[in-house]
This record gives sequence, structure tokens and C-alpha cells, in this order.
Amino acid sequence: MIGQTLALKGLEKRYENAVAVDGVSLVIRAGEFLSVLGPSGSGKTTLLTMIAGFENPSSGQIMIGPQDVTFVAPNKRNIGMVFQRYALFPHLTVAANIAFPLRMRHMSESLIRPKVEAALAQVHLGDYGNRYPHQLSGGQQQRVAVARAIIFEPPVLLMDEPLGALDKKLRETLQLEIKGLQQRLGATVVYVTHDQEEAMTMSDRVAVVANGRLAQVGSPLELYRSPVSAFVGDFIGRMNFLEAEYLGLENGNHMVRLRGGNVVSTAPADDDVSAFSLGRAISVAVRPERLSLAPHGRDRGAILTGTVDAAVFAGSFFLFFVRTQTGNNRLLQIQMPVGHAAATLRRGDLIDVIAESNALRLFAKTEA
Ligand SMILES: Nc1ncnc2c1ncn2[C@@H]1O[C@H](COP(=O)(O)OP(=O)(O)OP(=O)(O)O)[C@@H](O)[C@H]1O
Ligand SMILES: [Mg+2]
Repeated sequence: MIGQTLALKGLEKRYENAVAVDGVSLVIRAGEFLSVLGPSGSGKTTLLTMIAGFENPSSGQIMIGPQDVTFVAPNKRNIGMVFQRYALFPHLTVAANIAFPLRMRHMSESLIRPKVEAALAQVHLGDYGNRYPHQLSGGQQQRVAVARAIIFEPPVLLMDEPLGALDKKLRETLQLEIKGLQQRLGATVVYVTHDQEEAMTMSDRVAVVANGRLAQVGSPLELYRSPVSAFVGDFIGRMNFLEAEYLGLENGNHMVRLRGGNVVSTAPADDDVSAFSLGRAISVAVRPERLSLAPHGRDRGAILTGTVDAAVFAGSFFLFFVRTQTGNNRLLQIQMPVGHAAATLRRGDLIDVIAESNALRLFAKTEA
């Protein structure tokens, strides 16, 4: 199977009293795994149903390879689809469910049988062909849905929260299986999820959506390291936001005064500096793993002083919640390695907060 390029151009879906998808333009490369990540109601399902052809866009264009499919019927688009709920035919056996798209295409029974067996093997359900859906677990049903979606070797595969109903362990197993399958097949995949870890694990690129618009599209690493807005920074991984006042540039570094008094310098500007003006209230974003803490007065160069509110053992690290004057009423989160001396700090201890160089990112206040 060779994946095809999927191009969305100015795609919009307007309902009477809502704009579900608001001008999405995006090219998904052949064989690419792209996740669409966003909060509930942000337009993910609407976007997918337009690509699948179950909804017509209000405006815009959908291309698969060289073909404009904007107004092509769903069954003529050659797209595989897996929904959040298993959506298997209850009265058909597993094998018949998987064979269904081939029978629809009038393939001869002698060709169908080996294809179904191969698909069953690919989703690790070799012995389950004669069962009915209600005789399977949730994870097994979802595997059948995946097998049914890939059996006709579609160049484009759409999945709408296919693992949403499953528990965490099983979800992680199936994430790897789906990803492995996609790589073997070379299919172009658009995968909807609101679970950012899932999007980060599986994807070549992630499209973050908010209010029907693309907030940012990039590799998981790009989104994590260089979010273009406070929204994206907050949505991907953990992020602290500190209130601050912008003081201007010094030797190419942004200087800001954190609420509570400390002046800190942040990474040289690669963004649009003109967005910040002198004395303006801004938001300083910093990841928990790029901060550390130490007993008060021990370290020079601390950016903040605070008190420990809680220390949570998270298995592979400690997460400290620290109360500061600057934290916008949110507790500051600081991630420390297990075994670090600071891990013995307790609730109520007075501490200093230290930031790695280049760890701070500035955002205009209105975005937070
Ligand atoms: N048929 C419809 N008529 C009117 N509004 C609709 C219709 N379908 C969806 N919407 C609205 O469009 C917006 C986007 O809905 P959509 O189902 O695409 O969100 P989503 O990102 O998939 O959310 P979730 O994560 O909850 O599944 C919502 O505000 C929703 O209420
Ligand atoms: Mg949805």
C-alpha cells in the first residue's frame, strides 16, 4: 500500500449558530502520521467527517493525491475509517465484518479469504474469525475495526479517538500496534485524539486545533520546545506561567521583572520582539523539568523564592508544587529527579527556584 498526499485548502464548516471548522489549510504528506489534537468541541470530528465525505464543507477543498474529492461520495474516496465506538456489525462474525469492504467492492470469495486471514493476523486476532463482536473485549473489537479499515488497502486512513474507550495499559499497547501497522503499510493517517501523550507518541506531526483553527502544526519535539502560543504550551505537556513586566532588550536578551521583584533575562529573541513593549504585562512560560529548587539562600541566581506546598512522588521523578508571589495563583510545578538532595524538602520549607538557561519563554499576556 502506498499512502497518498492529503491536502486541505481553506476548509470550513459553518452550522447555523456555530463555526465548527474555520479555515483549515494543511498538507499531510504521503505516508505521514498526523494527529489532530485539541480540546472537546474544537472541531476535530467535523474535520475528519469532511475528509471522509460524510459532511460537505461550507467552503474549501480536499485533495487526495491529484484528485479533488471535495464532492466525491464517501465510498468513492477510498478512505479507511475507524470511529471512537467500535461500530462493528453485531450480526456479522469478525471475519465477515473484516470482509465487508471487499464484498462491497465485489471481490471474489477466493481472494477475500486469504486477505481476511492476513488482516486478522496483523491485528493479532488469528483465532477469532468466527466469533461475534459481543464475544470480544473492547480492545479486541477495536482491533477488528482497524482490520476492517485497512483490508482494502486505503491510501488514507482516518481514525477518530479509536482508543478513547479503553484503559491506559491497553491503549498504550494498541498505540504501538497501530503505529507499527501504519509504518508497514505506508498509509497516510489522520488520527484524532484529545490525549496529548498519545499524539506525541504516535505522530510524525501534530496539528493542535482550537476553536476550529490550527493553533500550531509541528513535530512533537517542535511543539514541546517551541510552542508559538501560551495555549499550545499549556496544552502540550506541563507548563508554568509566571506574571511579569517587560523591561526591554539587553545584549539581545529579553529582560523581565517577575511579579515579586526578581529581574531575569530570557533567551535571545527569535520571535517577533515588536509584540512586547516596555512596561507591558507579559507571561513567562517554563517547563517543570527546566526548573529546580534548593533550600533558600544556598544558590545564587535564583529566579524566585517560595514555599513548598506539596511534594508528589510520580514514580520516575518528584513533582514539587511551590507557592510563589508570581505564579498567577497557580502553584509552580517543579520536576526533580528521584534521589536528588532536594527531594527531601517538605511542605512549608522556604526554597529558591533556579531556572536552566534558555528555559524561559515569553508570551503576550492576552494569550494565557
Ligand atoms: N451537526 C451539528 N450542528 C451544529 N453544530 C455542530 C454539529 N456538529 C458539531 N457541531 C459543533 O461544532 C463544534 C465542533 O464539534 P466537533 O464534534 O467537531 O468537536 P470535537 O473536537 O470532535 O470534540 P470532542 O473532542 O468532544 O469529540 C462543536 O461546538 C459542536 O457543538
Ligand atoms: Mg469528536
